[in-house]
Amino acid sequence: MDNYFNGREVHKSLFLHQQLFEQEQHSVFAASWCYVGHDSLIPQPGDFFTTDIAQQPLAMVRQKNGEIVVLHNRCPHKGVKVLAEPRGNVGRFIRCPYHAWTFKTDGELLSIPVKKEYDDCDLSTCSAHRGMQAVAAVENYRGFVFVRLQAEGIDFNTFFGESLSTLDNMVLRSPLGQLRIVGQPLLHRHRCNWKMVVDNQTDTCHPMIAHESSAGEAIRLWKETSDQTSPSPMVVELFSPFMASYEFFANMGIRTWPNGHGHTGVSNSIHKAYADIPGYWDLMVHSYGERQATEILEDTRHNTVYFPNLMVKGPIQTLRVIKPISAQETVVESWIFELLGAPIQLLERTVQYNNLINSPCSMVAHDDVEMYERATEGLRSHANEWVNVARLFESNESYERTQVVSGTSEMAMRNFYNSWQHLMRENHATPPEQ
Ligand code: FES
Ligand SMILES: [Fe+2]
Repeated sequence: MDNYFNGREVHKSLFLHQQLFEQEQHSVFAASWCYVGHDSLIPQPGDFFTTDIAQQPLAMVRQKNGEIVVLHNRCPHKGVKVLAEPRGNVGRFIRCPYHAWTFKTDGELLSIPVKKEYDDCDLSTCSAHRGMQAVAAVENYRGFVFVRLQAEGIDFNTFFGESLSTLDNMVLRSPLGQLRIVGQPLLHRHRCNWKMVVDNQTDTCHPMIAHESSAGEAIRLWKETSDQTSPSPMVVELFSPFMASYEFFANMGIRTWPNGHGHTGVSNSIHKAYADIPGYWDLMVHSYGERQATEILEDTRHNTVYFPNLMVKGPIQTLRVIKPISAQETVVESWIFELLGAPIQLLERTVQYNNLINSPCSMVAHDDVEMYERATEGLRSHANEWVNVARLFESNESYERTQVVSGTSEMAMRNFYNSWQHLMRENHATPPEQ
């Protein structure tokens, strides 16, 4: 079978089958531009950050000249994963902990203990001589570092196109035009397929239902216990929009871009009505002028999904990487940013949001996780082979151009599955890299 998406339905095997999972690592992830990390994670020469993309261990390393190189994190000798920590500094060179082969920070082989014992083996013709290999297709877009693991493929700007405007907006919210990652990510393991989590990011018809017992209850309690004259506490302000109506979500709109990207919150969003932070507007006007500052701050996109597995929230400065572990296991990393040059209260709000909504201790996140896990159980049923994504489907729907549709449409999901299927078919013949 290769018709996993028929325009209005997705086959349940996408969420269950390990064989498809293995295939999509190669066909979807290695062929797409995937997010590695933010360059503020590695400010100094020798700093490194490690991650996995398409089940490949990688390390991004800051060079002496300030550039960033992304290395395959594998010793050319016996294959040891050289950099094991999530973050650190390699010093002047990288040293493998097994037999102490060393490498320059760009991966070039530097030295081998007792090198003369290789004198007669013509090591220069062995692949080990190439050192730790660097990924060829790397792009640092305003601090956000992406790679495409396949040597040949779509270029960065064509892949993302206009969708980069979400990253632009988050950067421009800093009066200095600069972001900094703060702390470590919150990690939340879900027993479900990664695509269920992606799907949820543009699902605007679940918050008022699935989050009623958490956000809804918090709001009810506040109404019952407050005199309604004092301003809402920050937590209530952050929770409240989760209980907004269908009409609110429909009116805010969804924009889709080619190649599977899209965002909720075009003309309005759940992040629009936050209280002003004293001093911030003046700083923004000073940096950008009144007109541009207004444009930047009025663009309050809700969730931007970058195909395949990145979600960005510009107005609250959070970013989530939805990491596939296996067909039925996913880890969501939630990162936060400081807007350099902005009042510290903005960071406070970001921290508060991440803890309230994304943390493994969050009340809200568990509502979604329970739905993913129950869907994983329910999909085992033989009653129905398909998952429905037909809401506000239009018969002449196209995924080739940018468009804005109702905020309660499932068009962004269809756009995502269409790209997924396209890549699965296009790259199917190539055997997975070993
Ligand atoms: S495995 Fe790295 S030096 Fe031997
Ligand atoms: Fe949710």
